[in-house]
Amino acid sequence: METQSQMSSADIAHRLIVGDCEKMHEIEDESVNLIITSPPYFNAPFDYSGVYSDYKHYLSVMTKIAHEMYRVLQYGRILVLNIDDMLVDGVKYPITADLTHIMTSVGFRYRDKITWKKPDGYLRISKRSGVLLQNPYPMYFYPDNLLESLLIFQKDKFDYSSITKDIKEVSRIDTDSFKSEKWYSSLWEITNVLPNAKLEKGIAAFPEEIPKRFIILFSYKGETILDPFVGSGTTMKAAKDLGRKSIGIEINPDLEGIVRQKCGFIGSNEFDLHVIRRGEDNYVRNNSNNNRN
Ligand SMILES: C[S@@+](CC[C@H](N)C(=O)[O-])C[C@H]1O[C@@H](n2cnc3c(N)ncnc32)[C@H](O)[C@@H]1O
Repeated sequence: METQSQMSSADIAHRLIVGDCEKMHEIEDESVNLIITSPPYFNAPFDYSGVYSDYKHYLSVMTKIAHEMYRVLQYGRILVLNIDDMLVDGVKYPITADLTHIMTSVGFRYRDKITWKKPDGYLRISKRSGVLLQNPYPMYFYPDNLLESLLIFQKDKFDYSSITKDIKEVSRIDTDSFKSEKWYSSLWEITNVLPNAKLEKGIAAFPEEIPKRFIILFSYKGETILDPFVGSGTTMKAAKDLGRKSIGIEINPDLEGIVRQKCGFIGSNEFDLHVIRRGEDNYVRNNSNNNRN
């Protein structure tokens, strides 16, 4: 098997790093054109219960990762975070606000927020309105949560003149879908990955439509998309299908097979998928059998 040093990163279309994204030393400075990722939602009851010793620890981990994301992203380019506030043991943690603050403190510009709405009637961990139905009196109201945030950050300003006319043209956006599917709005209504989905069981995966839209909106053909919390590989699949390169980082080595299956990297051709296994043993175990979404 060839090693990373023997292969030029220009030849490798897709890379999976099995390890902790607190360090991204395999990725060169400013070599990534777009980052789309969904980090752990603190100690989310179904997916990450007890993983972080406390909220301060969680925020310090996210700060280290924010520095690395800033380092590897090209100037002018975009970072998208899919995240939301989380209720853990009766305490609501303002993750959205705190991660916005962390991203801006490492140098990103806060550019926009899209709200992702799941279909009415979909509920998993947040079916809380039943409290009032059992106690139909004031002070028992807790809303069911159907929303998540898609936070958009930018590293400095984009130089539109840096892209050739040819690359622009092959990356042209289909404005019919943009209009008919209401991509233009700050509210995106997208069906979540269903809890009984076979491949994504226990992974808290987001639907492919989310990375797909951002890849089309914020990257050009042939560019490199990074997801440092790649999970089942949804972002890599969307990147591959849209003619982009990808890099995924995943701390849980058990998910390599899922990424391969989802993206269609079945054989062992290192030019299709180059896997770097760091052999770390401190990964976050996800013992749940359910999806978050
Ligand atoms: C919310 S899931 C992402 C799911 C992904 N968007 C998908 O569609 O499958 C977060 C993932 O990050 C991984 N993870 C957690 N901490 C990590 C770390 N420090 N470095 C790399 N991966 C990590 C978890 O194992 C999990 O698979």
